[in-house]
Amino acid sequence: MTATIIDGKIIAAEVRAEAKVEVEKFVSLYNTNPCLAVVLVGENPASQVYVRTKSKMAKEIGMDIEDHIKDKDISEKDLIDLIAQLNNDKKVNGILVQLPLPEHIDSRVIIDAIDPIKDADGFHALNVGRNSIGGDLLKKSFVPCTPLGCYLMLKKNIPNLAGMHAVIIGRSNIVGKPMAQLLLEESCTVTTVHSKTKDIETITRQADILVAAVGRPLMVKADWIKPGAVVIDVGINRVENPSDTSKTMLVGDVDYVNAMSVASAITPVPGGVGPMTIACLLRNTVQAAFRQKISKI
Ligand code: GUN
Repeated sequence: MTATIIDGKIIAAEVRAEAKVEVEKFVSLYNTNPCLAVVLVGENPASQVYVRTKSKMAKEIGMDIEDHIKDKDISEKDLIDLIAQLNNDKKVNGILVQLPLPEHIDSRVIIDAIDPIKDADGFHALNVGRNSIGGDLLKKSFVPCTPLGCYLMLKKNIPNLAGMHAVIIGRSNIVGKPMAQLLLEESCTVTTVHSKTKDIETITRQADILVAAVGRPLMVKADWIKPGAVVIDVGINRVENPSDTSKTMLVGDVDYVNAMSVASAITPVPGGVGPMTIACLLRNTVQAAFRQKISKI
């Protein structure tokens, strides 16, 4: 078997095109562009790249972007004050605080300071709670961008996910936990495995859908995968290039080359989940802009 490649670049372009249509609708109705405020603290190179890419993609669909770049030594209080200012700014529809934050700042305090209706990342406790309850409350919440991207890619390949066994490797608040909730909502049987799980391979081999979100290069070997499974690789790991050690390259959490002969479909790295995350951020932001016109939360 050779797996079908699930091309995140193509699906992300579709999500961005849909978001662009919504932006145009918003502009014609309200005579102002939806606006995303991005807060970046410190000089983490990966975060700087993400923030630049977000700005570029947002501008391409007609969304305004405000970058708030802050020194790594900013106090928690000053950051909370900035969030309060963005919450009160009518021009700002979405707020994203790039994670990770420096250690002296409690990320949970900062995230929960964001007005939930401007929480483009879907990380605020109210949105997390609504996502967990599911049902109609999903319409009022924002779903975190990376698991939403994975979900949209899965649904493109398998419109009816009910009854499938989904195994998620990783239990982070950004990916693993919200991914599990989205798949439960689709009536999957969901198992989450993590660093303390015993004999992970035995569990992953039962997965019809395998989502790897651990940040460990090439951890998932071909013999961890059930033949015919759909594999979503969230990992983006920079490693030394074996054919030229002076260079680096990006690899996922899955041993992609060997997994190709076992899985029925798989996302590549790069070009899989990565582009979907930003596309879903734009989608969430324009949704937030519309919701702010009709309700408080
Ligand atoms: N850092 C890594 N992924 C994310 C994300 O989806 N949102 C934010 N705010 N920070 C991140």
